[in-house]
Amino acid sequence: MHDDTFGARRRDLIKAAGAAGLLATAGLSGLASAQAGKAQLAKVKVGLMLPYTGTFAQLGVAIANGFKLAVSEQAKSLGREVEYVTLDDESDPSKGADRANQLVTRDKVDLLVGTVHSGVQMGIVKIVRESGVLHIIPNAGVEAATGALCAPNIFRSSFANGQPAFPVGKVVADRGLKNVVTLAWRYGAGEESVAGFKDSFLKGGGKIVKELWLPFPNVEFQSLLTEIASLKPDAVFVFFAGGGAAKFLTDWKAAGLKGRIPLFGTGFLTEGVLEAVGDAADGLETVMHYGDGIDTPRNRAFRLAYAKAFKLQPDVYAVQGYDAGLLFAAGMKAVKGDISKKKEMIAAMRAAPIDSPRGKWTLSKSQNPIQDMYLRKVIGKENRVTGVAMKALDYPPTGSCKMPA
Ligand code: PHB
Repeated sequence: MHDDTFGARRRDLIKAAGAAGLLATAGLSGLASAQAGKAQLAKVKVGLMLPYTGTFAQLGVAIANGFKLAVSEQAKSLGREVEYVTLDDESDPSKGADRANQLVTRDKVDLLVGTVHSGVQMGIVKIVRESGVLHIIPNAGVEAATGALCAPNIFRSSFANGQPAFPVGKVVADRGLKNVVTLAWRYGAGEESVAGFKDSFLKGGGKIVKELWLPFPNVEFQSLLTEIASLKPDAVFVFFAGGGAAKFLTDWKAAGLKGRIPLFGTGFLTEGVLEAVGDAADGLETVMHYGDGIDTPRNRAFRLAYAKAFKLQPDVYAVQGYDAGLLFAAGMKAVKGDISKKKEMIAAMRAAPIDSPRGKWTLSKSQNPIQDMYLRKVIGKENRVTGVAMKALDYPPTGSCKMPA
């Protein structure tokens, strides 16, 4: 009896020590020991289903880091300790539903946070709609998730695919650049980015010369770059991200197109890749809901805390993960950690203004962020904010989301 109790307690302590270890690596050991004192309370289980391998691996890590940072900063007000279950989705759409189901059915997570890739996201959406498990999307922009397939338990802390692309179309049209070639990975995110770009660009009088595609995560750009050079457009709009974006920028420069044809994209083209591409991105202008130089106390404090904890500079993915943590914390505070009060928790999350490093944002009726879109320019190793491309952008319009009660 004594041994069993001791054994159980030891296991708890070992678990707590595991959490403390994680937080200690994150430089947050003080909070960890405050948490360890509460080890006897049931923990909230958070599934972090993200890509930890492949072209989006770095994005997954940044999101997980951001989420954990927010949770550790909010630890005292959560009412419960948090336990993580981590699962690599490999950005493989064929594994999306199965992996999500594993977290829900086997691991019994209270909250499923994920993912990066729009195709994988569709599998998660299916499972969280069926199970009703609380869900926050910290990146994937697939519009159906907060559109036709919207649901009260599905939240997004990132963007809808067309959202950052829509302002790019206006910027390009306003500059009098008429004939544009688009180039993207042919899957949900690429297709919806190009559609968002075209929405405003065509309205502004622009013309699409040609739409070029390649399958995800293919990075054989050579023949496409040759074709672009021969088409001689006024500008090119692209969607690539992660390792693929780094490869594209390097190849674009090597093909002699840098400085010859104006290149535009959403900020995913330059987020998290500037260290890897040398000067290939210099001067590149993009639109994104975050930028490195946002000069607010909130952003400065976040950047400092993130750099200290992870010995890395944060990017938009880290911010989206962090904000997913803030959104979760807003819900937890409202129910004082009693996640069985799901309706109350959801209501609090829906209503929460999020005081983000990117600036304050709120959720639309379809539970996608309404947020400012910044114009940025690559200067040195930074995506420096040069202006606001669109204020409080709610896009795409909520039309297709009929939110069930
Ligand atoms: C997506 O698949 O939705 C996606 C992936 C990476 C990004 C943005 C969107 O940077």
